Amino acid sequence: MPDTKAPTSLTARFGAPRHVAIIMDGNGRWAAARGLPRSEGHRRGVEALRRTVRAAGELGIGILTIFSFSSENWLRPRAEVRELMVLLRRFIRNDLAELHKNDVRVRIIGERDSLDPEIRHLLEEAEALTGGNRGLTLVVAFNYGGRQEIARAAQRIAEEVARGRRAPEAVTAELIANYLDAPDLPDPDLVIRTSGEQRLSNFLLWQAAYSEFVFLPIYWPDFDGAALEHAIAEYRRRERRFGGLIARTGS
Ligand code: FPP
Repeated sequence: MPDTKAPTSLTARFGAPRHVAIIMDGNGRWAAARGLPRSEGHRRGVEALRRTVRAAGELGIGILTIFSFSSENWLRPRAEVRELMVLLRRFIRNDLAELHKNDVRVRIIGERDSLDPEIRHLLEEAEALTGGNRGLTLVVAFNYGGRQEIARAAQRIAEEVARGRRAPEAVTAELIANYLDAPDLPDPDLVIRTSGEQRLSNFLLWQAAYSEFVFLPIYWPDFDGAALEHAIAEYRRRERRFGGLIARTGS
């Protein structure tokens, strides 16, 4: 993977979103349209992911969050779940050194405790190895669901209230945000979903409260730097008011 460091690119100077989140949808339909097995769609999806990480770095995006496996994806046929796990393992094993070399910092969000220990270890190894990097932050949402994330935060806060460490009236939106999986990261400015579907599917429910949404009519394996630039151009045409009356820039 080529160098992803390009801090002063044109887009960075002229309003690139700081944080882009992507729902990578349509691998199965991409494969079906070609008479190929779904696994081939996922495999080509990983290639699209590589291109996207590279393009995000080149465009000066600070944070890229990808929805790589949802809490609900366990409901898929066992063989498909197994394939997705194989692809994740392979992605980390084959690409981690390259990501690290390119100064990419990997972060993981999602529920970890119930994961296969080997997968959990791999994810944590990626975080540990790249923890000091200062280039693109790649947030991998794995075994992730927005409702589950908020519920985990609520449970931890409830425990503190039950122990008398916090008053119920101290439970504010700000406090809840501090108990989410990556509380130090800014909310996504832009959420992109491929495949033409127009829904959030339990992705970043809390964090996307004021995000701009761009839905693209292409399947994820066809996504590339040009598609990312197209989505960013659309984002830059939007007027962001965050509930107020005066437009503010998102980055
Ligand atoms: C949606 O396509 C995609 C997923 C469920 C997972 C996304 C996974 C990848 C891009 C490859 C794996 C990446 C890593 C890092 C492991 P779909 O199967 O829902 O497509 P469909 O809606 O057309 O059936």
